[in-house]
Amino acid sequence: MRLANAAPLVLLLAADTTSANLLKRASGFAARHTKGLARDLRVAFGGVLPRSDAQQVIYCKSSAGAAAINDPGSSGGSGSSAAPGSSPSGTSSSSGKGSTTKGSKTASAPGATASSVWQLAQSYSGSTFFDGWDFWDTSDPTHGVVDYLSESDGRAAGLVEVNSAGNAVMRVETTPTVASVRKSIRITTQASFNGGLVIMDSVHMPTGCGTWPAFWSNGPNWPQGGEIDIVEGVNDYTNNQATIHTDPGCALTTDNPAALNATASAVTGGTDCAAATSGNQGCGMRDPSDVSFGAAFNSNGGGVYVMQWISSGISVWFFQASSVPSDIQNGAPQPKTWGLPMAHWPASDCNPWKFFFDHVAIFDTTLCGDWAGSVWTSSGIPGQEQSCATRTGFSTCEAFVAASGASFNEAYWEVRSVKFYNTTSPL
Ligand SMILES: *[C@@H]1O[C@H](CO)[C@@H](O)[C@H](O)[C@H]1NC(C)=O
Ligand SMILES: *[C@@H]1O[C@H](CO)[C@@H](O)[C@H](O)[C@H]1NC(C)=O
Repeated sequence: MRLANAAPLVLLLAADTTSANLLKRASGFAARHTKGLARDLRVAFGGVLPRSDAQQVIYCKSSAGAAAINDPGSSGGSGSSAAPGSSPSGTSSSSGKGSTTKGSKTASAPGATASSVWQLAQSYSGSTFFDGWDFWDTSDPTHGVVDYLSESDGRAAGLVEVNSAGNAVMRVETTPTVASVRKSIRITTQASFNGGLVIMDSVHMPTGCGTWPAFWSNGPNWPQGGEIDIVEGVNDYTNNQATIHTDPGCALTTDNPAALNATASAVTGGTDCAAATSGNQGCGMRDPSDVSFGAAFNSNGGGVYVMQWISSGISVWFFQASSVPSDIQNGAPQPKTWGLPMAHWPASDCNPWKFFFDHVAIFDTTLCGDWAGSVWTSSGIPGQEQSCATRTGFSTCEAFVAASGASFNEAYWEVRSVKFYNTTSPL
């Protein structure tokens, strides 16, 4: 395998008027649907503001012959190409095995590296983790009370580092009191991708009242290029929510996760995934695991998130640290052996190549803003049985953030690695 740099992809920069219109439109939605739109506003900006003049597409040329056994969703239909993620070998007791000829004999042997068709295409880890990411240092599109820093400012402030364990750390400022905003970090990959596997291994994520962290991907000209929220939640939530946001035309056939071959406990936001016609709710799925997000994720040692984007659809898995499949640990992922994904958006009602393209991956930690701020007084969500207003004694998120620096000691990402895998088989 070797890396090859394709011709730089010229990023189309939207004219100012387009940006302004888009943002105005997004703000209009915000007034009506504060909660669900937050993340979309962030993306609206992400889609229209210049990230860089050009992006490199990095892909992998692997040696021929590796293919076939665990063929990822070839468009050819039946035979050996059962959709990865939708018909896993071994664990699908309820949904039955639709495909009997999917060649999973060798694929079920964990760590059998020879049978993975997925090859490492790009890896961010260790001392070079931050190479290949752009630091977002303008205002937060989601109206959080943060001041995003450049890489040099972030390092100088002690908010960005690779620690002694070799993990990438992105913190929030913990100065006891601030006037309004706290320094924070938001980064975007310089490379873009169209399909493949994204595997993010983290030991700690930001948590606590006021926080709104996310790891996601999105394409240009939001919502045209689509958005895939892989890890997202606010305040003291303990259950992750994965969500897609698209142009009109992308949907789910049902809001029953089991019928979608997903283990999610609920579809949130409905079955219309289009930003414009769903009030920007998108199609979200809530993880049944209460260690998939926040403080419980951290005390449990973290875990691994996988997003798979192939012809049969888009899926997200979560593995807590103690049960990360060995094939992932060995660098030879075999999605078909993992069991049902937590979230699955089948291609049948949402063409993954039409509604998603040229994605970049993003980490951020914002404070308050359109989502964390708007549910400050809400309760009854897993992990947030009591509202943050009650727990903190502050009536607004913003006042709490300004006065409570020590509360943000836990508001940091500590990431072992982000890896992109690809295949020479049809995606
Ligand atoms: C769920 O999995 C079954 C068994 O593999 C398959 O027949 C069905 O088409 C899948 N449904 C969806 C919505 O992916
Ligand atoms: C996988 O390869 C395809 C085709 O070359 C490319 O478009 C895509 O961006 C690659 N994905 C990753 C994650 O590298």
